[in-house]
Amino acid sequence: MSTINYSEKIPNNVNLSEDRTLQRALEHWQPNYLQWWRDMGPEGSVDFDVYLRTAINVTPEGWAHFGHVKMPDYRWGIFLAQQENGRKVNFGEHKGEAAWQEVPGEHRANLRRMIVTQGDTEPASVEQQRHLGLTAPSNYDLRNLFQINVEEGRHLWAMVYLLHKHFGRDGREEAEALLQRNSGDQDKPRILEAFNEPTPDWLAFYMFTYFTDRDGKFQLNALAESGFDPLSRTCRFMLTEEAHHMFVGESGISRVLQRTAQIMKQHGIEDPEEVRRHGVIDLPTVQRYLNFHFSVTIDLFGADQSSNAAAFYSSGLKGRYEETKRDDDHLLKNNQYKILDIADGKLTEREVPMLNALNEVLRDDYIRDSIAGVGRWNKVLEKAGVNFRLTTPHKAFNRHIGTFAGQRISPDGRVISEAEWQANVRNWLPSEEDRAYVASLMGRVVEPGKMANWIAPPPVGINRQPIDFEYVRFN
Ligand SMILES: [Fe+2]
Ligand SMILES: [Fe+2]
Repeated sequence: MSTINYSEKIPNNVNLSEDRTLQRALEHWQPNYLQWWRDMGPEGSVDFDVYLRTAINVTPEGWAHFGHVKMPDYRWGIFLAQQENGRKVNFGEHKGEAAWQEVPGEHRANLRRMIVTQGDTEPASVEQQRHLGLTAPSNYDLRNLFQINVEEGRHLWAMVYLLHKHFGRDGREEAEALLQRNSGDQDKPRILEAFNEPTPDWLAFYMFTYFTDRDGKFQLNALAESGFDPLSRTCRFMLTEEAHHMFVGESGISRVLQRTAQIMKQHGIEDPEEVRRHGVIDLPTVQRYLNFHFSVTIDLFGADQSSNAAAFYSSGLKGRYEETKRDDDHLLKNNQYKILDIADGKLTEREVPMLNALNEVLRDDYIRDSIAGVGRWNKVLEKAGVNFRLTTPHKAFNRHIGTFAGQRISPDGRVISEAEWQANVRNWLPSEEDRAYVASLMGRVVEPGKMANWIAPPPVGINRQPIDFEYVRFN
């Protein structure tokens, strides 16, 4: 690996060819990354030609590059959004200072921890999704899965760039460790719980990309506000890719609902058992998957009260969602925020200092955004003339982090007994049997234009190609 043509091999806008130290670090890391991709990336896919979108620069036109490539040859690159002249630290105790181009020494450990935690989620999702290609419902969907996988790979590059460029030796060690932890691994798991859950089937995949990639959107938005300018710029560019991931989730679930509703109307049936007999996913099962993915994902925002969250904010490292659009003092020392608690066997609200509740602030912003899409799914059902409606469970339901960890709360937000939980959990969360049923539907459909029976075709193809375009060629 001694001669790499950097602008050719690693597209970038960070002057890689002039940065010897960074080159050396990447020279060492890149072969390990490619080895990780072969070992832990999409199973059996290295020879496929996949119709991928590749970013070659950060302008809108730089995105318009589509073509068939083998995934190991995908041009993973390092892109930062354009530097904003005169950008300032916009919140916390350093508010008004010029944004930092170098890591501020006093905040080095916290900053590294935030970058590593974000970076860890990127390869984790690739690992979680690595078997899904074997059961793709269509050639089109298979392509979308692979597009997401290579972009999550690029997001890892983005975080590794920051570690290599700004954190010296311990940054390089962290970059190696990002390839050594693995999702679900007993000894070296990924850092966050939701990223150690398997993504066993395509219903789970669409829910994951809808809910969990949306967590990515909110975390990246909060980091895009950072006073550490390189982190802000790299997150802003990553966000352009995240939108497609959420699109795959939202449109995937819409197509599932459309197909199920069509079968229900065609046969005049509503009973889930009967619906299953026609080989489509019954709506209560969709609801249980939704409940699971929503509740697991909102845990990712962390404890409802957190002194770390306060410290990250006050030191200017991590802002709120759309920080600069808010009209308060951006210091928050005198602000309060309502969080949920349990008193006398009931959920109740209480006010706490907002600085300590910033995880909850971000979680609530996330929840509002998530609910909007669930409303759009219900429009699909409404249009099809089906009475069933999906709902987003209460935010205290099925939580494992924060105040509600270990508490039993129903999806409609009642504190309940262990007995009531046990008697109803099969109606609220996917059972083994639900998962086995969904798994039984997963067969590989890859002939261009064909769809698995349980899902409707997409309304349009990718990049104005027809739906029966050969998005993935198997060779
Ligand atoms: Fe990502
Ligand atoms: Fe993503």
